Formats: sequence, C-alpha cells, structure tokens
Amino acid sequence: MDTIISPSILSADFANLERDVKKVQDGGADWIHVDVMDGHFVPNITIGVPVVKSLKKITNLPLDVHLMIENPDKYIEPFANAGADIITFHYESGVNIEKTIDCIKSFDIKAGISIKPKTKPEVLLPYLDKVDMVLVMTVEPGFGGQEFMADCAEKIKFIKENSNANLIIQVDGGINDKTAQICKSYGANSLVAGSYIYKANDIKKAIESLK
Ligand code: DX5
Ligand code: ZN
Repeated sequence: MDTIISPSILSADFANLERDVKKVQDGGADWIHVDVMDGHFVPNITIGVPVVKSLKKITNLPLDVHLMIENPDKYIEPFANAGADIITFHYESGVNIEKTIDCIKSFDIKAGISIKPKTKPEVLLPYLDKVDMVLVMTVEPGFGGQEFMADCAEKIKFIKENSNANLIIQVDGGINDKTAQICKSYGANSLVAGSYIYKANDIKKAIESLK
C-alpha cells in the first residue's frame, strides 16, 4: 500500500480555501485532512460541519475529518451527512468507544481513533480490529507548526505489531521529509502534514518527498 498523504488545511488560507485545496489536490494529495477543534477538548477553535459540506462540493478527494472535540458522538451524523469519508475521534474524549465506532460505521464511512502524546498505545488493543484507522498524534493537538515528538512515533511500532495489515496507521504533527521517514520505518502508512506542505515553494515536490 502506498503511503496515503493527507494535507491538513489548518495551514491553508481560510479566505482562499478552494484555491488551497486545489493546490494540494494538483500536488498529488490522496486525502484532505480537516482539523475540527471546539475550544474545549483543545485550546483552539477551527472549523465545523458547514465547511465540510462546502469542501465536498469542490473536491472529489476523501475528506479525512479529525475531531478534536468533546462529545464527538453528537456530531458524527452531521459530519457524515456533510460528506466526511473518514471520521477520527479521540480515545481521550470520554465517549463509549465501541458505540462511537459503530455509529461512524453505520454511515458506511471509515472510522478512526486517535491517541494524544501522553496516552499509551495499549489502550487501543481492544479496538484495533474494529477501526479502519489509528491516528497517532506526534504533537499535542490544537495547533499546526509544532515540533515532532519522536518518542510518540515509537507507538506506531506497537500498533503495527498488534494489528492486521489492513489497518491504516496515520501520524499527525510535525511531519516533514525527515520525520516522515521515521514514521514510515515504524510502519505508518498515512501521513498528515500541514505547515510542511503549505509552506513549501513546490507543493508537488513536498508531497512527493513524504511518499
Ligand atoms: C494538530 C492537528 C494537525 C496539524 C498538523 O492538532 O491535528 O493536523 O494541522 O500541522 P503540522 O503538520 O504543521 O504539524
Ligand atoms: Zn489533525
């Protein structure tokens, strides 16, 4: 399986979102990563359901929606109806994990679960054969442009060893051409990158360097 590159539009210009989505699409992006933050689960507020609905009209790429919110279960149906193709929620958000996974899958879309830097990968063992994707955070969620935490990336190894080959193991936070190699060597097969891609002079080259 080729590495799935999911550029994070958190680093895009929100006043020119269509232009910036097309930029990464033309550059070879596989998915579009949408960071949803509520100011409670993380200390930042970003975008929500209406933006996903609008994005659906301007791109055919799968919308990879990363929910960094409290009560994610309340928002699965609206995000699924708006056109999310993958919904990832946080293990730490306090929901009933199995119920939330089942709810996402009931919309015939992919279900992902994510862990923050301080959460041990062992907590995911009961769910590894139930989810389509695990998202390992390599920064504290909340902001783009932070530094990659190498010790968090080691969790990828554990998840790889304890899951089947179909599981998508995604990494998010501080990804660039160098940290991408580390994550891939541990078994990651999907990479999220915001600032590295959007700050690049040549977006196509930047995406290629991650692949
Ligand atoms: C952080 C978000 C990330 C962020 C990554 O909470 O989940 O997706 O946009 O940004 P970079 O790639 O700049 O670390
Ligand atoms: Zn994200």
